[in-house]
Amino acid sequence: MNASRIVSVADARRRASRTVPRALFDYVDGGADDELTMAGNTEAFRRIGLVPRMGNRVGAPGLSIELFGTRLSLPVLLAPCGLVSALHPDGPVGAARAAASRGTVATLSAVAGLAPEAVAAGCRSGGMADPGWFQLYAPGGRPEWEGLVDRAAASGFTALVVTLDTPALGNRERDRRNGFSADMHLDPLEIGRLAVQFATRPGWLARMGAAQLAARRSEVPSGPTVGLVAAGGSPLSWDDLVAIRERWSGPLLVKGVLSAEDARRAVASGCDGVIVSNHGGRQLDGAPPTMQVLPDVVDAVGSSATVLVDSGVRRGGDVVRALAVGADAVLVGRAFLYGLAAAGTAGVQRVLDILRTDIERTLVLLGCPDVASLDRTWLAAAP
Ligand SMILES: Cc1cc2nc3c(=O)[nH]c(=O)nc-3n(C[C@H](O)[C@H](O)[C@H](O)COP(=O)(O)O)c2cc1C
Repeated sequence: MNASRIVSVADARRRASRTVPRALFDYVDGGADDELTMAGNTEAFRRIGLVPRMGNRVGAPGLSIELFGTRLSLPVLLAPCGLVSALHPDGPVGAARAAASRGTVATLSAVAGLAPEAVAAGCRSGGMADPGWFQLYAPGGRPEWEGLVDRAAASGFTALVVTLDTPALGNRERDRRNGFSADMHLDPLEIGRLAVQFATRPGWLARMGAAQLAARRSEVPSGPTVGLVAAGGSPLSWDDLVAIRERWSGPLLVKGVLSAEDARRAVASGCDGVIVSNHGGRQLDGAPPTMQVLPDVVDAVGSSATVLVDSGVRRGGDVVRALAVGADAVLVGRAFLYGLAAAGTAGVQRVLDILRTDIERTLVLLGCPDVASLDRTWLAAAP
């Protein structure tokens, strides 16, 4: 489809729902249990009002930021997401290329469905200097994470994200109803099992079928890097984190922080950054919306570590709110997945362009010259 017809993330979501099979759309779109945390995430952004200052002539507002010595022209990164390779043949390489083309970075999940070496090769052949960040799950414990950390380093990934919020998988009832599992390889057997659903999306089926055959011919290593679902989760601990710090020399971030206490512990364990995240409401239902806890985390560690936030970002105004609270940048999960499902690499680029335009417009309307000038004085709690 023509990505230029997508005008908002909500549009991309609607397009995605018509493009990929129901089970895949639900996998992306759904949350845990009653989806209370998932709903709370978007609601929390809406509760925060913005206070404009009139008469400040803002030309082209500055959006660039620096993260770990690298300049990004957009304060929005792509969050690590499993099974990206099933949404569209462009998969994780397409997402990484889209991010790079828009001056930002994608994070490859250990369960994205394509090996880090293959993603790195795809990025390099597209002219990228590096493949971005890598996110670690390790259900198999230390031998497994040691291998993955070394592979990520050898493949040229520039930062390592360790996700701590998945000691067990959240209860995703939509997936269970659909008979869907994130460990799927979408081989002929599994496609056969979901045939009725897949048959209603012939375009997707044809694209994915052709891509599977091409991958087989070229022997691209595919499938999950680790067996997260089979193992039931990735129970990494703070002790693992200290040991990972010794092995990984680049920037290290912990993902899944929801309290000042855990943020302090991450910094004490040698992390360079924390990602305030409740996994988009896909893990512990009842966990607080990230915008509710972000101020505490920023106040606790903001001066000594990089603070990123995700979960519920759907508009540029959400990004502005998070940066005003004190986050250094945000990550988006579903927003880019909807774009990828709807239109591949071009769909991710479109979503990033929408967010960029949104952020610029919001800053102009606020009378704020650049993202560096955002602070809590631009915010008001909703009545
Ligand atoms: C389909 C899907 C798969 C995900 N897989 C992973 C993963 O493999 N590793 C991880 O750390 N987080 C994963 N997440 C969580 C995202 O990294 C991110 O925290 C979340 O999507 C942010 O919320 P948002 O979708 O509302 O932007 C996944 C999220 C989605 C929607």
